[in-house]
Amino acid sequence: MVSRMQDPEYLRSVHYRDSSRLNARIELWKRYSKGQGPGVADWTFKPGSVAENADVLEVGSGTGRFWSDNIDRIPAGWDVTLSDVSPGMVEEAREGLVDAGRVFSFEVLDASSVPFEDDSFDLVIASYMLYHVPDVDSALVEISRVLRSGGVLIASTNSEQHIAEIREIQTRFGPGGSAADSVNRLNSFSMETGEAQLRKRFGDVATFNDSEVLAVDDAEILVSYVLSLDGEFDESAVRNHVENQIAKTGAFSVTRSTGFFVATKLQ
Ligand SMILES: C[S@@+](CC[C@H](N)C(=O)[O-])C[C@H]1O[C@@H](n2cnc3c(N)ncnc32)[C@H](O)[C@@H]1O
Repeated sequence: MVSRMQDPEYLRSVHYRDSSRLNARIELWKRYSKGQGPGVADWTFKPGSVAENADVLEVGSGTGRFWSDNIDRIPAGWDVTLSDVSPGMVEEAREGLVDAGRVFSFEVLDASSVPFEDDSFDLVIASYMLYHVPDVDSALVEISRVLRSGGVLIASTNSEQHIAEIREIQTRFGPGGSAADSVNRLNSFSMETGEAQLRKRFGDVATFNDSEVLAVDDAEILVSYVLSLDGEFDESAVRNHVENQIAKTGAFSVTRSTGFFVATKLQ
């Protein structure tokens, strides 16, 4: 069964109507992650990875943070389009980049039905979003179709171990079955399952893993993270649990286990 976190209508009108939930989660990584492996930005902006005059599309671009975080690294010749199924997210991305000093294009679109001609792009980025698409393969077919021969898809996702400790909180203090629902959804395109999916539609696939354990000593940042997940949580029980753990050991451990694939369209 498709979960509501894979229902484009629910995502655009409720969960990702604006960036508040997404930002609560990003805050944890910003504060505590040291990023062990090469990241998407390192690969994308490494000289030679992508042509100097590339046409670039990001699907599920959220607040557009990839572009605002890397504004000085974007080659002058790139023509970049940001897109998302949520009009609210697209608007926030547009507002966030309005003073960036370069021109971006914006589109509201569903990754399963991309309104561009065949062979339109040299690079497509899909970060932490393919597991929200009800039929992942339909999005991969669309992305491959709009890529030119030799073009690449960079797709980031999480591994099954990612935030295992937060899943435990979800199980104890959240809606019944929500942790299992999240893992099932992730399995539709995770670091473990993504490569096989990509190999069906792309000629070459490279995998980059990135894992670390964070020692989180700020209870509130974790409480906000948990409350940003889908469904109702017992907030005071979550707060007590996290505060007790931090008081006992000095920190609450959170596993961050993510990565990305670089899939090349060979013909
Ligand atoms: C976890 S957020 C990631 C946002 C951004 N890529 C980042 O890394 O910060 C997932 C994003 O995908 C969007 N999304 C979900 N389903 C989508 C779909 N079928 N087509 C396009 N975007 C979608 C959501 O609205 C949300 O902005």
